[in-house]
Amino acid sequence: MIQETLVTTQNASGVAHIAPMGIHLIGDDVIILPFRPSTTLDNILATQTAVLNHCDDVRIFAGCLTGRRTWPLRTADVVRGTVLCAALAHTELELVRVEEDATRPKLFCKAVHSANHAPFQGFNRAQFAVLEAAILISRLNYLPLAKIEAEIDYLRSALEKTAGPREWEAWTWLMAMIAAFKAEARP
Ligand SMILES: Cc1cc2nc3c(=O)[nH]c(=O)nc-3n(C[C@H](O)[C@H](O)[C@H](O)COP(=O)(O)O)c2cc1C
Repeated sequence: MIQETLVTTQNASGVAHIAPMGIHLIGDDVIILPFRPSTTLDNILATQTAVLNHCDDVRIFAGCLTGRRTWPLRTADVVRGTVLCAALAHTELELVRVEEDATRPKLFCKAVHSANHAPFQGFNRAQFAVLEAAILISRLNYLPLAKIEAEIDYLRSALEKTAGPREWEAWTWLMAMIAAFKAEARP
């Protein structure tokens, strides 16, 4: 199973970094797969730790992809790292081994501490739509624009039916990103 989470890491000097990542859960293994180049990868290799933040505030996912990377953090409980204050739950990880790959290495981690902070509020289709749109936008340079726009059109229907203010705000940031990309691509 792949869980869409926000990974917090820090570099050797303690500078924190937040990145949305799809984490693979296989048995007891927690596998982080960053595409090179990646600050998350560099930080995990430097500190041997990471934190998975389970968040329903999709603005953080959209924000990280649109230049809004500053979100409130607090010190992690066990490992050297930080936890997003918005996390409903979080898991602190230690790196166990690395499977090298030129494009996308696999970082095998083990959970050393987990904590719950707030109740899960149930599924929301607009949150899903924002996550999917954020993934598409992270691939703006690789996928055909026509495909991205067709998928965004489909996702917009769920957003319009079920979004609250946070989901609308996140969506607006993502749509502005597509508009800027198109304006830049125009000759
Ligand atoms: C829901 C979601 C899941 C993502 N999963 C991954 C992933 O598994 N690996 C990856 O390299 N980037 C993933 N991305 C894109 C990264 O968040 C983005 O490119 C980020 O800047 C990673 O690079 P960094 O470690 O330098 O911050 C994902 C984006 C979203 C919105």
